[in-house]
Amino acid sequence: PLVSMKEMLETAKAEGYGVGQFNLNNLEFTQAILQAAEEEQSPVILGVSEGAARYMGGFHTVVTIVESLMAEYDTTVPVAIHLDHGSSFEKCVEAMYAGFTSVMIDGSHFPLAENIAVTKKVVEVAHTLGISVEAELGRIGGQEDDLIVDDAEAAYAIPAECDELIRATNVDCFAPALGSVHGPYKGEPNLGFDRMEEVSKLTAVPLVLHGGTGIPTKDIKRAISLGTAKINVNTESQITSAKAVREVLAEKPELFDPRKYMGPARDAIKATVIGKMREFGSSNKA
Ligand code: G3H
Ligand code: ZN
Repeated sequence: PLVSMKEMLETAKAEGYGVGQFNLNNLEFTQAILQAAEEEQSPVILGVSEGAARYMGGFHTVVTIVESLMAEYDTTVPVAIHLDHGSSFEKCVEAMYAGFTSVMIDGSHFPLAENIAVTKKVVEVAHTLGISVEAELGRIGGQEDDLIVDDAEAAYAIPAECDELIRATNVDCFAPALGSVHGPYKGEPNLGFDRMEEVSKLTAVPLVLHGGTGIPTKDIKRAISLGTAKINVNTESQITSAKAVREVLAEKPELFDPRKYMGPARDAIKATVIGKMREFGSSNKA
């Protein structure tokens, strides 16, 4: 069933595992992620960036595709459709109106008071509708679609500010930027676990780790042990599916039927997602 993230993340946090947010980019991503979740009997969060929604034909198109596939697959596991890095109150409302069950309002580029104000507005609407909300503080480096944060701009969240935002807004989960990066890492990631622990001690709210691609398993496990219950992965599925397409087309340059190269891409995404679900510990938790 389509649900908000609230219950799945609270259960994950209480039981000590992480639920993956896997980003969609097209139909094959959507199929692969839903198939992986059902096979693994894992709860799942479908991450939809504004850019991906635009590419796929708008928020409503995304919801329609997800609902149709869930009916076709007889999906039994909990699935959330989540707006990833929502850029404004208006975009969040648009996604909610289209049927998203969860939204992120990314006010991380604003000063604290403004971030709190916009997050609060989104929560008021969302909670009236049973929709969950994620907020962010600090700035996650790297690039994801429209969102580009260079090294100088990237900033670690300050625990006292996190506490203030969470208390003032009543968000359902919270992403403190602590050194994770969107896209591939240059060298080993250097996550601020001390601050993560501090934030965790200040709040009961499940924490979110963005930039899940390229984080070593030991760091994933440590983050989960410190209250992280949601881990976002996008780039890794993109890399493995692009590799599959390249291999098929290199091997058979005369090939043109999209099913012959997108099928293997879909299989690659599914394998990636299954691997992450096992790593995060969400398999057989649906
Ligand atoms: O919001 C989405 C993620 O944080 C994805 O990060 O592309 O580095 O896996 P990633
Ligand atoms: Zn992110």
